Amino acid sequence: MIRRSRRREEIPVILLCLAVFAAVSFAANVTYDHRAVVIDGKRRVLVSGSIHYPRSTPEMWPDLIQKSKDGGLDVIETYVFWNGHEPVRNQYNFEGRYDLVKFVKLVAEAGLYVHLRIGPYVCAEWNYGGFPLWLHFVPGIELRTDNEPFKAEMQRFTVKIVDMMKQERLFASQGGPIILSQIENEYGNIDSAYGPAAKTYIKWAATMALSLNTGVPWVMCQQSDAPDPIINTCNGFYCDNFTPNSNNKPKIWTENWSGWFLPFGGPVPYRPVEDLAFAVARFYQRGGTFQNYYMYHGGTNFGRSSGGPFIATSYDYDAPLDEYGLLRQPKWGHLKDLHKAIKLCEKALVATDPTVTSLGPNLEATVYRTGSGLCAAFLANIGTQSDATVNFSGNSYHLPAWSVSILPDCKNVVFNTAKINSVTVVPSFMRQSLKVAADSSDAIGSAWSYINEPVGITKGDAFSKVGLLEQINTTADKSDYLWYSLSTDIKADNAFLEDGSQTVLHVQSLGHALHAFINGKFAGDGSGKGSSSNAKVTVDIPVTLVPGKNTIDLLSLTVGLQNYGAFYDKTGAGITGPVQLKGLHNGSTNDLSSQQWTYQVGLKGEELNLPSGSSSQWISQTLPKKQPLIWYKTTFDAPTGNDPVAIDFTGMGKGEAWVNGQSIGRYWPTYISQTGGCTDSCNYRGGYSSNKCLKNCGKPSQSLYHVPRSWLKSSGNILVLFEETGGDPTQIAFAAKQTGSLCSHVSQSHPLPVDMWSSDRTTGKKSGPMVSLECPVPNQVISSIKFASFGTPRGGCGSFSHGRCSSTKALSIVQKACIGSKSCSIGVSTDTFGDPCRGVTKSLAIEASCT
Ligand code: GAL
Repeated sequence: MIRRSRRREEIPVILLCLAVFAAVSFAANVTYDHRAVVIDGKRRVLVSGSIHYPRSTPEMWPDLIQKSKDGGLDVIETYVFWNGHEPVRNQYNFEGRYDLVKFVKLVAEAGLYVHLRIGPYVCAEWNYGGFPLWLHFVPGIELRTDNEPFKAEMQRFTVKIVDMMKQERLFASQGGPIILSQIENEYGNIDSAYGPAAKTYIKWAATMALSLNTGVPWVMCQQSDAPDPIINTCNGFYCDNFTPNSNNKPKIWTENWSGWFLPFGGPVPYRPVEDLAFAVARFYQRGGTFQNYYMYHGGTNFGRSSGGPFIATSYDYDAPLDEYGLLRQPKWGHLKDLHKAIKLCEKALVATDPTVTSLGPNLEATVYRTGSGLCAAFLANIGTQSDATVNFSGNSYHLPAWSVSILPDCKNVVFNTAKINSVTVVPSFMRQSLKVAADSSDAIGSAWSYINEPVGITKGDAFSKVGLLEQINTTADKSDYLWYSLSTDIKADNAFLEDGSQTVLHVQSLGHALHAFINGKFAGDGSGKGSSSNAKVTVDIPVTLVPGKNTIDLLSLTVGLQNYGAFYDKTGAGITGPVQLKGLHNGSTNDLSSQQWTYQVGLKGEELNLPSGSSSQWISQTLPKKQPLIWYKTTFDAPTGNDPVAIDFTGMGKGEAWVNGQSIGRYWPTYISQTGGCTDSCNYRGGYSSNKCLKNCGKPSQSLYHVPRSWLKSSGNILVLFEETGGDPTQIAFAAKQTGSLCSHVSQSHPLPVDMWSSDRTTGKKSGPMVSLECPVPNQVISSIKFASFGTPRGGCGSFSHGRCSSTKALSIVQKACIGSKSCSIGVSTDTFGDPCRGVTKSLAIEASCT
């Protein structure tokens, strides 16, 4: 069977239909019972996904939401980011990326629901877990416990958000999209550290939330003692084992981690979709009715919003929508098929409790059968080693290890978590040099200008104090940077200098990184950095002192404030000492910790607003390279086309970058990940954990940094960098993210496409599995078939090869069916290709490209 479909001219008609069907209607009444969230009297099976609005731009939101809807989501879940909304106490920001109302309304316009996780503590790898830094300075405050000043602030912000939603009529009870709200976040994971006050606090939080009368249920995640009627929910890689604390509450999974976050210095985590789909199917199999992907779109930690310490700027998360908002395939497509399969079971799922039977060791059948004759079944093989053939209701079923088959009629398999029908798309990054504006087409590098950031104290608001200060209390996080400066007298006859001027500067810091300068010069190896597992820094730097006055300037920096753990807000950072000069030969030590230090919060360039690019001080002669503490600026044209844009910072050290005044985040391509422990083909079978499947070992954790298209003009864009350690900005390039190859590999043993489920049953004819290819970008058609094989092809997308058995006609049949079309479907069957090897289960593998 071969289908060609949707040539270019058909697309507008389809879009029109979609627009008509996207009409919005929301329920007025949301309740719950032990099986499900109940909307307008109807129990619902709901699929949800997290998109954090400040991790993308308002211009990206409609597309992200539409792609979520197309992927089969019913609900968008987001935290509310207090420190973004109230950066200064009583000064609110609900503009741009922080326009929460706009985001919620866009979700509503797409016809989806919202789960609003107000927190206001959010964790989320977000700076300080979402708390504004000023909170720390409120007199008498203790965060996240039974403390009056804290509770007052938490209540004030929660009320602010709830009132704002109410005013806009955004709760479902008012006809809006919000069907659930969350208060606190995973407090139960750490509450024992807060003693008996924890219980009082959580009771208070529950009462406070309930008193706001939102008309929709509240949840608390990872809070087994969540007071009624608040629903306690589960977070984790698997939640099928979870049961809520009352039989009147539904089983809800608020964070199914679709991948994991990336720290600077770490390899890139990924989660195979076979395992993610397995976890989801197991959850619905075992009575769950609401599941949320954390993240569905991870996005980008712009500015200094990342938490940590050491959370990278990319928050891609291996989510179904990648950092740039493109479909990650086959993840997105396989989950879309899964969601359709689960929806085919919805009526039976919500109608009853399941009956579970064992079909053998590690083999489990779960049946939802109603009095009215509805029946849906899930067959699971939770073994990690061997595939199994099971007998269920008189039929035989093949169950790969670590997989679940879904049978919406208790007979036919519509989906198996380990059998991927979806296409795979291999993205490619097209590198383009930074094309500088036409009016500066001189020699390479001349289009860059620079300003040196002075070493040590230069700002008027510097101050002196005896002893070493903790950094966060000193900077209040107004900047990543804090200078610790000391002028110290070294007598010519000092013991340190008796063997010449060599000594060792020993510095201990709580983190996160530091750079040392002696007498105004960068001290050789004078940098130290912590890591995401241990933020502390200790450096021993050989230094050369002069007799008489010497200056020691230590630039200490934070890389995202701690966001997790009991009392995380008190973790602290900076050079708390000791700071010592150690004699090289006689072993004596001169402790400088208790001397009078001078402090400067932030950089001179920050004070001068260099990120805007508008200063008159930029110098365009002979560009210095590989120098620490330097601001760079250039003007450039946007790469042509609409592909998402990244800047490749290879060649630079560490710093922050701004495009047209907007911070695209911290860059740090010189922080290289571990060399071992990575694999590109992780075995999905068996329990997943955050360090099970890693890639990118031995490479920069992050070299590409997202620049949202909407921040770019076609020409005359200003890029400003602050470079801490030294780099060559002329090496900076653009990378545009494009679709490389489109692949699919489907076996005769796969279920037929989930979309054919009903048609197959009504016509009664038994069609087989199919390969379906579709170009991901509108207006593209399949332009070439790079590989096609029917038989026993091997390898993956980009590396397919023919196996021992292969049909000679495959390539020409596929070419004929697909070239020139936006999409095509081909039956994986001997009817189409003939039989190149009898008695063998065959598969069809195709690699195509679209233009
Ligand atoms: C959870 C937390 C989320 C996020 C996640 C890891 O514990 O609730 O906010 O931090 O871990 O990505």
